[in-house]
Amino acid sequence: FAQNSGELTVPAKPDHEINRHIYGHFAEHLGRSIYGGFYVGEDNTKIPNTNGVRNDVVVALKKLKIPNLRWPGGCFADTYHWKHGIGPKEDRPTIVNTWWGGVTEDNSFGTHDFLNMCELLETEPYLAGNIATGLVQEMADWVQYVNFAGKSPMSDLRRENGRDKPWNVKYWGIGNEAWGCGGNMTAEYYANEYRKYATFLADWNNTGELFRIASGASSDDYHWTEVLMKNVPESLIEGVALHHYSVIDWEKKGPSTTFTEQQYFTTMQRALLMEELIQKHTAIMDKYDPEKKIALVVDEWGGWYEVEPGTNPGFLYQQNTMRDAMIAGATLNIFNNHSDRVRMANLAQAINVLQAVILTDEEKMLLTPTYHVMEMYNVHQDAAWLPLKIKSADYVMGNDKLPAISGSASKDKNGLTHVSLVNIDPKKAQEVTINIDGAKYRDVTGRVLTSKKLQDYNTFDKPNTIKPENFKGAKLKGNTLTVKLPPFSVAVLELK
Ligand code: AHR
Repeated sequence: FAQNSGELTVPAKPDHEINRHIYGHFAEHLGRSIYGGFYVGEDNTKIPNTNGVRNDVVVALKKLKIPNLRWPGGCFADTYHWKHGIGPKEDRPTIVNTWWGGVTEDNSFGTHDFLNMCELLETEPYLAGNIATGLVQEMADWVQYVNFAGKSPMSDLRRENGRDKPWNVKYWGIGNEAWGCGGNMTAEYYANEYRKYATFLADWNNTGELFRIASGASSDDYHWTEVLMKNVPESLIEGVALHHYSVIDWEKKGPSTTFTEQQYFTTMQRALLMEELIQKHTAIMDKYDPEKKIALVVDEWGGWYEVEPGTNPGFLYQQNTMRDAMIAGATLNIFNNHSDRVRMANLAQAINVLQAVILTDEEKMLLTPTYHVMEMYNVHQDAAWLPLKIKSADYVMGNDKLPAISGSASKDKNGLTHVSLVNIDPKKAQEVTINIDGAKYRDVTGRVLTSKKLQDYNTFDKPNTIKPENFKGAKLKGNTLTVKLPPFSVAVLELK
């Protein structure tokens, strides 16, 4: 065992809560995310469903307690015209998905379908508006259509389409990746566009609840954040986005399952870069918003590899191994530890796309290692954040090194403390000795996720190769918690 030490502080009055919205998901019209993933339609399918939404998916996602779901993109959002996805399905025009595979879709999954599905999932919708090929009027109408309780042209149209009560959608994205697929804009130009769109996103029922999210930087584009924070008045903005993918090289992403240790190391370098990105974007935001009123919203994150052999390159379908579990655990620790500023995030993406939590094949469905990490970590949702400092041993690769251990901790409403620890070293087991300050615990239990090989994954024939097991490697003696973590493992402990 390599040796590591830590310090867990349990203050009498914790500083803030870990916003549950950090555990959000993303569903784009991309490949088999919506069609075949979430939605199979009501007719011509043997797959059990509720209004066309797969029942197995609903059960699985409810177990994760997904707090929000972002839709309809991604790049797709800036090509999407919401009025084409309402009314009788047979009358809806088709749309060609120019970003993702060039496929023609029939718009059968539209606004009502998505928002009703969110009700089924007991999750909050996060709608991404079209500001590149759609005008201000179109987006303003969308808000009125889904949110206005009174009488108006849009709310009347909603009623005509069978929905009386508004859905009261709080989260609105104003464009997506405006620096790229969302219009190739400069930061300065986008900041002006943002101001215009945000002005007309009305809070129709005067709830004071509308949460407008600006399309944010790609990874280390600090200029983007600086320009937004400087040029957009605080009254017009509640969140600034950030997108960062753990990709080895955009030209040579490497396979999702048969990767080498060097490829694994590079993926983890990219994933752990999230710490620096958040620190630096936060420092810029702090300059303009020292009270941290505006949230940093990491609304796209995750691993991105080559697609599975034989699948459509535009569909971004990839398998999910223990490497993905490492990305998920380490990234969520980073988010938890910056939860004073990071108050929302969305893993890309929920089903059949990139670092998915669920994969489907016709009537079959499996839960990925990433699913299990999200499920184990959901104890942190809305729990009080506890500072956990780790002094980690190194995971060494040639001349490079990364901290092997990361961790985060919180105390939930029932008084239970949860500590999540990740050992990304694929060869070395680690012992972590944590000194606890400010609380006395009697008992520790836990669960762990690991496997025989780092490259292991769940298949439709063997869906339970990787699943959480009871963890016996944690011991409590007085104020000292000692944890023995196997190589490439994620553990979540409960202290009481
Ligand atoms: O998640 C896949 C794509 O990645 C999204 O559509 C886009 O926003 C990002 O580039």
